[in-house]
Amino acid sequence: MSEYAVEIENLKKVYADGTEALKGINLTVDEGDFFALLGANGAGKTTIIGIMTGLVNKTSGTVRVFGHDIDTHLSAAKQTIGVVPQEFNFNQFEKVIDILTTEAGYFGIPRAQALADAEGILKSLELWGKRDIASRGLSGGMKRRLMIGRALITRPKLLILDEPTAGVDVELRHSMWKFLTKLNEQGTTILLTTHYLEEVERLCERAAIIKTGQIIKNDRVRNLLDLVEQETLVVHVDQVKNLNKLSKYNPLEIDEETFEIVSDKKERLSIFVNELVKAGMCLKDIRPKDNRLENLFLSILRK
Ligand SMILES: Nc1ncnc2c1ncn2[C@@H]1O[C@H](COP(=O)(O)OP(=O)(O)O)[C@@H](O)[C@H]1O
Ligand SMILES: [Mg+2]
Repeated sequence: MSEYAVEIENLKKVYADGTEALKGINLTVDEGDFFALLGANGAGKTTIIGIMTGLVNKTSGTVRVFGHDIDTHLSAAKQTIGVVPQEFNFNQFEKVIDILTTEAGYFGIPRAQALADAEGILKSLELWGKRDIASRGLSGGMKRRLMIGRALITRPKLLILDEPTAGVDVELRHSMWKFLTKLNEQGTTILLTTHYLEEVERLCERAAIIKTGQIIKNDRVRNLLDLVEQETLVVHVDQVKNLNKLSKYNPLEIDEETFEIVSDKKERLSIFVNELVKAGMCLKDIRPKDNRLENLFLSILRK
């Protein structure tokens, strides 16, 4: 058996209208990884997932999932994958529990096993109390969790999530992150696509950055963060004044007590603090704005 969960070689996709969505993707995901595919809208993320799961025909290249080549063993490959698409696509009139057991049925899982697993999954997603209501009666956050639950009912070795937290509120995002982290610790390999950079920083060991159908960077997240040249800092003071004296930091006033600066990572913060005091302000707090990967993204694209 392969030690890779995913092996993609020179994968190309040209859609019928001539759009070159993938221009020769090479990518491996280790078994047990929590891997992110990071990229803007239209970069090709969903196309890769569509090909891996047999929904989109590739133009050329090779895809193997746990060693199963999708050209020759698509069904074996699909048995290992649970997918959470970005859009809600379950039957709105079906009951929560039935959505899971129906999915299990497609995969030939015995009903007794499906029911037992569904109970455990719905409990861990805090949906057990809703098991007998039609899914359209769920809140948006519950529907998101239901999508994850449905993907897990087949006991996938690889869980793929396509932009799982796009449009999800902060509280739910954090509880989803906790759930996914635990799932990964228990042995499920996770591949997620996102343009939430904070998500990658919090969750993932490795990330590949994809731009217009090409992987432009693939490394440990820690190493990627080291590439950030500049970062935005949020500065709290007693009273914002004389920002013109700090013009080399590109200050941006947020409110009477807050402004942001762009700081070169190589420059020592104490120099900035000295200049701030000279400008007549008293420092209360200084912290990075949550956008280090965004800066990274920009700095890679600039090169
Ligand atoms: N069915 C399709 N027909 C033609 N072009 C498509 C189709 N699906 C996606 N594309 C194009 O392929 C590119 C990659 O899309 P997609 O994989 O959805 O990117 P992402 O998921 O990263 O936003 C985009 O330019 C998109 O417009
Ligand atoms: Mg997409």
